[in-house]
Amino acid sequence: MNSVTILAIESSCDDTSVAVIRDGFVLSNLIASQDIHMAYGGVVPELASRAHQANIVPVTHQAIVKAGIQPEDISAVAFTRGPGLLGSLLVGTSFAKGFALSRNIPLIEVNHLQAHVMAHFIKEEGGNKIPALPFLCLLVSGGHTRIIVMKSHLEMEVIGNTIDDAAGEAFDKCGKVMGFPYPAGPLIDKLAKEGNRKAFSFTKPHIKGLDFSFSGLKTGFLYFLRDRLKDDPDFIGKNKADICASLQDTIVRILIDKTVKASDQTGIREIGIAGGVSANSGLRNAMTEEAGKRGWNLFIPAFRYTTDNAAMIGITGYYKYLRGEFTGQDVAPLARM
Ligand code: KG4
Ligand code: ZN
Repeated sequence: MNSVTILAIESSCDDTSVAVIRDGFVLSNLIASQDIHMAYGGVVPELASRAHQANIVPVTHQAIVKAGIQPEDISAVAFTRGPGLLGSLLVGTSFAKGFALSRNIPLIEVNHLQAHVMAHFIKEEGGNKIPALPFLCLLVSGGHTRIIVMKSHLEMEVIGNTIDDAAGEAFDKCGKVMGFPYPAGPLIDKLAKEGNRKAFSFTKPHIKGLDFSFSGLKTGFLYFLRDRLKDDPDFIGKNKADICASLQDTIVRILIDKTVKASDQTGIREIGIAGGVSANSGLRNAMTEEAGKRGWNLFIPAFRYTTDNAAMIGITGYYKYLRGEFTGQDVAPLARM
């Protein structure tokens, strides 16, 4: 079979990313991040879509050049259809449609959440460990916290979901209360390394089954800080590392407990983590420890494939290409999917 080269476009939130994937290997994966949102404490949708418009053509050009291919080598264009910010998705969707139409090649829509899980199937030169199926994956991104069972490459069942905030939101919102810029997750992770995770304790939610809840933790955290700040206005400044370590440990424990439960219930021991929060060192360490205890075959993605990137869109597009799952030009982006 001739090689399959996918041009992949990701524009669901605040990063414009374009990748070129050939036969499951990444030839290029470029990301233009938008620092503009930091000052606002969260992503401003209108600013995000305008930045995507400015970035998409130069980033695509660079991704093609870096991959060392010609536009005529591209077999199909894969793009994120959703979920995400509608204005941002619209930029990527319209660009992908135009590209596919102008080159007369197939268009492939990709679900962003499915793509986070599919990142585990990216092939590396020299060979890498790829999950066997069924595969159980804890998906922890900025907007979603789910436990997914992957039965075939493109067939995923959600067996656990958050009933309110996502784990990423818990990091970001608690960080915001401490005065950290958005997104706060990476900074909390960094500070937590210097702190004592047993310094403070926060109440964990009691949610039945495999579902999650993080909004109670956020509220509890807010009240905790409010009370401590009454006694000592510099409480945060003096205890930053311990607060971050304790908060992170609470979030990580909630995630680990449900993953253990899901593995026990399904009997699946091929376990992975995916999404932006899977970059968290506390989660990566705790998962590794748990896997050692329980004999799991654990899959932790490379950092570059944890947060939003087009390579994961490309690998999903590649599997869809092999199955002939193409999308018509009448496709519209979906904020929810
Ligand atoms: O998957 P992602 O890049 O975007 C979405 O699809 O939502 O996830 C972004 C989330 C943010 O909430 C960010 O704070 C969090 O991932 N994040 C982290 C870390 N790196 C990114 N959270 C904790 N520790 C990190 N190292
Ligand atoms: Zn994402």
